[in-house]
Amino acid sequence: MEKTEIWELVEQAAEARKQSYSPYSHFMVGAALLAADGTVYTGCNIENAAYTPTNCAERTAFFKAVSEGRHSFRAIAIVGGPKDGELQYCTPCGVCRQVMMEFCTPDFEIYLGKNGEDYIRYTLKELLPEGFGPANLERE
Ligand code: THU
Repeated sequence: MEKTEIWELVEQAAEARKQSYSPYSHFMVGAALLAADGTVYTGCNIENAAYTPTNCAERTAFFKAVSEGRHSFRAIAIVGGPKDGELQYCTPCGVCRQVMMEFCTPDFEIYLGKNGEDYIRYTLKELLPEGFGPANLERE
């Protein structure tokens, strides 16, 4: 991806982070997911008083996209950090990596951003090597 595209995706994740519903952890996360057709789906983390129903920002973005018919993706940007603290390179949890595995190829790009100029790039293969995915269930 070109630098300006990455920049924009990280900024969209930062904007989405403002909607974070995180009254329990006070850890605010935003994500911006770029579909193959160029559409961007944003998401934030949504917590719950019962804790376990909490949805991460990444999965919110994926589920919005899939619910609108998108199954093919190029990249995701993630911006996270404590409400009153500094942003950090917020790495996706294991459950979100597994959701990525369902819909993305190994070269799917994951940008952990603080702002448009400050980010780290990973691929899904790097963050989830030897993952279990749809191919494992294909019949011969
Ligand atoms: N969280 C995300 O939304 N994405 C991540 O990549 C890591 C964690 C959320 C879940 C929970 O609402 C809060 O951050 C603290 O774990």
